Amino acid sequence: MSPQNHQHAPLRLADEADAAAARDEAESGEQRFDEIIADDSRIEPRDWMPESYRKSLVRQVSQHAHSEIIGMQPEGNWISRAPSLKRKAILMAKVQDEAGHGLYLYSAAETLGTPREDMYDQLYSGKAKYSSIFNYPARTWADVGAIGWLVDGAAIVNQVPLCRASYGPYGRAMVRICKEESFHQRQGWEILYSLSHGTQEQREMAQAAVDRFYGPALQMFGPPDGDSPNSQQSMAWNIKRFTNDELRQRFVDMIVPQVEALGLTLPDPELKWNEERGHYDFAELDWDEFFAVIKGNGPLSRQRLEHYRSARDEGAWVREAAVAYANRVSQEQDRDQAALIGA
Ligand SMILES: [Fe+2]
Ligand SMILES: [Fe+2]
Repeated sequence: MSPQNHQHAPLRLADEADAAAARDEAESGEQRFDEIIADDSRIEPRDWMPESYRKSLVRQVSQHAHSEIIGMQPEGNWISRAPSLKRKAILMAKVQDEAGHGLYLYSAAETLGTPREDMYDQLYSGKAKYSSIFNYPARTWADVGAIGWLVDGAAIVNQVPLCRASYGPYGRAMVRICKEESFHQRQGWEILYSLSHGTQEQREMAQAAVDRFYGPALQMFGPPDGDSPNSQQSMAWNIKRFTNDELRQRFVDMIVPQVEALGLTLPDPELKWNEERGHYDFAELDWDEFFAVIKGNGPLSRQRLEHYRSARDEGAWVREAAVAYANRVSQEQDRDQAALIGA
């Protein structure tokens, strides 16, 4: 045995001891994780968690954040053309809320160890996914109403159960988001109500908007349960509480009385109350359309991404200026502190 090998032997032993300690930690971590999930309690950022749980959450939370940010575009487009000052102020507040939702969610995703810049880059490069609904245009003012009523409405149905998601930062972000989404849904419903009780032309505009957004809003819950491979695992981890089809049914049951109150109809001839099931039956959705939009072939998929990229590029100087200012303030604080200590 060479002298060199003698030197390495204790190191190898130390490595093995470290590896064994890490294994023990992972084992007890896994046991603890399983207990927390079984108790329907919460996992926090510093708790041990399986890599697959972490990855799956980063994917879900960042996709959710991207959807909030891209979702600002269809309605942001109408801020300058809202029909009154009051409508403009309300819409601006709503679009700002969506930016805030994006920020809470990026913050929640960051606690899982993925830097925010990486998530931004994934969206910028076109690699990241976001909700297919935001690739549709808002053609008329009534579309802004239909988006609030149907799209934010579907978001609420999807998100209320997420307030109990097993990952603490995600669940807590959802509580605040859901409160704001309720306001969004009501403002959309109120826009449609004004139009559906206005002139014949306004009524037709409202109906056409509902006709356009009904199908894509129902598709927001994701593919049918049989085609949703991640759902089962997500439910076993107490992230998701209901399947896509259960949530979709809940949404249809919720909007039927609402559309009646609006004096409008939903564009589905098969929509009918089923006494036996205690739910509304509705027609199969256009899943070919859904998968085409998901793959980036939605009516405005390209424009949405291009707009995001140019906004990010054009805003680079603002971010640089903010960082330079923050650095200067902290340097000044350090100097003042040093002067005080020196005194
Ligand atoms: Fe939102
Ligand atoms: Fe919203």
